[in-house]
Amino acid sequence: MTNADFEKIVDTSDEWIVSRTGIRERRIADSDTHCSDMSVIASRQALEMAGCSSKEIDLIVVATVTPDYRLPSTACVVQEKLGLPNATGFDVAAACAGFINGLSLVGSLVETGRYKKALVIGTEKLSAFTNYRDRNTCVLFGDAAGAVVVTAQEGESGIVSTFLKSDGRMREMLWAEVGGTVNPYTTDYTYDGRDKIMMNGSDVFKVAVREMCRAAEKVLAEAGISSEEVALVVPHQANIRIIEALAKRLKLGMDKFYINIDRYGNTSSASVPLALDQANRDGVIKSGDYVLMAAFGGGLVWGSALVRW
Ligand code: UT7
Repeated sequence: MTNADFEKIVDTSDEWIVSRTGIRERRIADSDTHCSDMSVIASRQALEMAGCSSKEIDLIVVATVTPDYRLPSTACVVQEKLGLPNATGFDVAAACAGFINGLSLVGSLVETGRYKKALVIGTEKLSAFTNYRDRNTCVLFGDAAGAVVVTAQEGESGIVSTFLKSDGRMREMLWAEVGGTVNPYTTDYTYDGRDKIMMNGSDVFKVAVREMCRAAEKVLAEAGISSEEVALVVPHQANIRIIEALAKRLKLGMDKFYINIDRYGNTSSASVPLALDQANRDGVIKSGDYVLMAAFGGGLVWGSALVRW
């Protein structure tokens, strides 16, 4: 969907969307394509790139807040569709910070030696939870999936440090109020958009800039790495102005940030692995590079991860 498509359905303009968010297009999955389907496509490519067979995968963690079903987990659906006979799997719900939460968790589990090869997937069909009558939110979101393989092996490369944090007191800044057990769908529920994503954008914006920056600084400090030593920052793609503010606070040029928000919009859990994959395929990341990731989302929840490529 382009900005011109939105001009036809809500009171908005290409000029407003581009100048306030940096978004020009987003990808919308068709009605037959769900999180698990996008995950399978991304995972096949990740497995191929890692030179890893499906039999070797012993753990699947799917980060999503738009699962195929309430029950079972999307990880179990992905396991069946991909054919991973030797794995166990579960979902992580940490909104836009889902992939970094999943990566951090899987890194810890692999470090224990209990699991050897894991798939970490970030996948969202946000179009299914977007209120296309609300101009404050509908122009922002898109659908996508990205995946990585995390392997236990000796060497310099790997997950160097991670930091995760949440603050549930701010949960109503970004949420879907109806559809859970607190406010279940009832036969007399008349559609009012409260089962879709609702956000107080400007409040979320301020916390996002402050906490993503703090999280990034924490992982750098823990690793003993200065921001100048980072080759590439792959931030959550929620708003180009948030990324610019992050760059300013970290005292880094925008040339160190990988940006694809213009083409995909905000894809929540999928945003960081999608951008990471594109950066890798574009040849922007070289072996030995420090890559810094940072994300922020509904919960509120945020986190950062430093990896050595
Ligand atoms: O990914 C998870 C975390 N999410 C985020 O990090 C998102 C953080 N927030 C944001 O990115 C920005 O706050 C938004 C892009 C959501 C909004 O930008 P803003 O500059 O903070 O705008 P605002 O919410 O302060 O609204 C300014 C005006 C309002 O009009 P009034 O009340 O001043 O007359 C809005 O109604 O812009 C209006 N507006 C729009 N106008 C045209 C809001 N959405 C639109 C729109 N088109 N699509």
